[in-house]
Amino acid sequence: MAVVADVAAGNLVVVLAMALLLAPLVSSNSEGDALYALRKSLSDPDDVLQSWDPTLVNPCTWFHITCNQDNRVTRVDLGNSNLSGHLVPELGRLEHLQYLELYKNNIQGTIPSEFGNLKSLISLDLYNNNISGVIPPTLGKLKSLVFLRLNDNRLTGQIPRELVKISSLKVVDISYNDLCGTIPTTGPFEHIPLNNFENNPRLEGPELQGLALYDTNC
Ligand SMILES: *[C@@H]1O[C@H](CO)[C@@H](O)[C@H](O)[C@H]1NC(C)=O
Ligand SMILES: *[C@@H]1O[C@H](CO)[C@@H](O)[C@H](O)[C@H]1NC(C)=O
Repeated sequence: MAVVADVAAGNLVVVLAMALLLAPLVSSNSEGDALYALRKSLSDPDDVLQSWDPTLVNPCTWFHITCNQDNRVTRVDLGNSNLSGHLVPELGRLEHLQYLELYKNNIQGTIPSEFGNLKSLISLDLYNNNISGVIPPTLGKLKSLVFLRLNDNRLTGQIPRELVKISSLKVVDISYNDLCGTIPTTGPFEHIPLNNFENNPRLEGPELQGLALYDTNC
């Protein structure tokens, strides 16, 4: 009995050791899987995603992807790439992602609320697409965000007040959409020029504390 127990305990140690050794690989594969989910959701007539091979150990050798020294994805560069299709919630798993550059494509559908989990994100550039739905209030969780450029899409709803809490935010452009309500004036919004909100026919002017309701026209 003692021998059996020893063997079982020995196996357990081996299994645990392997799990620990494999953990970093599993996490980088999961980033590859997330990006591959995006590839499958997009139409790519110019084959810019051809190198995105999910059988590789991590996505760091794929074109248009940048990783840090720990092989974690920090940058996705797919601006102006003739892509259409939809964004995927799986991208929210890229917890070291700093730059998500998908501007000037023809991406449709909504911004997944899971993008609020991209806790390292500095730049969210989705301008010049065909994105609809609301700006997810979860984006207020992006405490490193500096650039939020969502202009030239078909976004609706209010500007989520959660965004005023992002103290790092320097550049916001949400012009040329179909947003409604009023423009925030506190926090980082104190310094955003009004033309970065223009051409939203239902968007009222800047909110005046206590006067205009922020959901006017929605
Ligand atoms: C974009 O893709 C379409 C096919 O969907 C193709 O006809 C067009 O030439 C492409 N444009 C560029 C700039 O590559
Ligand atoms: C934008 O998306 C809508 C569907 O949501 C589609 O009907 C329309 O043709 C798209 N516009 C362009 C320019 O592809």
